Amino acid sequence: MISIKSPREIELMREAGKYNQLVMQEIAKNIQIGVTTKRLDEIAYKTIKKYGCEPSCLGYEGFPASVCISLNDEVVHGIPGNRKIKDGDIVSVDLVLSYRGYHADATRTFLVGNVPQETKELVENTRLAFYEGVKVVKNGTRIREIGAKIEKFAHHHNYAVVEDLVGHGIGTDMHEEPDVPNYDDGSNIRLKTGMVIAIEPMINLGKKDVYVDDNDWTIKTWDGLPSAHYENTVLVTDTGYEILTGD
Ligand code: MF3
Ligand code: CO
Repeated sequence: MISIKSPREIELMREAGKYNQLVMQEIAKNIQIGVTTKRLDEIAYKTIKKYGCEPSCLGYEGFPASVCISLNDEVVHGIPGNRKIKDGDIVSVDLVLSYRGYHADATRTFLVGNVPQETKELVENTRLAFYEGVKVVKNGTRIREIGAKIEKFAHHHNYAVVEDLVGHGIGTDMHEEPDVPNYDDGSNIRLKTGMVIAIEPMINLGKKDVYVDDNDWTIKTWDGLPSAHYENTVLVTDTGYEILTGD
């Protein structure tokens, strides 16, 4: 069942979304050459707690950290560790936190130092792909239209869309119904006012194929080329949408 949020729940999700933005800013400030991804995770944990929130990923199906940090050819679910960020890396920070039981989910991909031009463009176009997709969101839109827009935009730029992972409903659970794929899956489920969804294009410079790393968590591109990710938590309204996690 797809949940429709009450006005009270929407207010709490707005709050969660604001805290997500503040924590993301704090992490962003600390992304620089030489910093370990573990250090960024510690900063995430402390800042989440400072705002009275909980890190949704920590312990989720055994995930060992508060935030997913995925570098370069890692698509999602990178595990923070002793690796240092280096010049030319792209760094995806996928942050989910809850405030009074309501989750907010957002991802930003940051550029560090001298990133090759085509990778820079991939990151920027992945952000733009999100905006292409979100543009069609309103009461009554079929969910597949979001993915259709994202896919069209990505293919126009000769990128590949990751199909093995999808966006999702969000609320009292981090992952709720419905699935929100980044391609046209042919489903006829429609958005309704009061639904909240995470739209999260994952776009590859090379081919769409991915595999799971030996750590059983991290998803990487098969061809080793970079992948970018951009995500926001979005409320569906009568006339459009409200992005709860900022831009
Ligand atoms: N935003 C990620 C997702 O939707 C959060 C994963 S948390 C983890 O898959 F614990 F599963 F890594
Ligand atoms: Co998500």
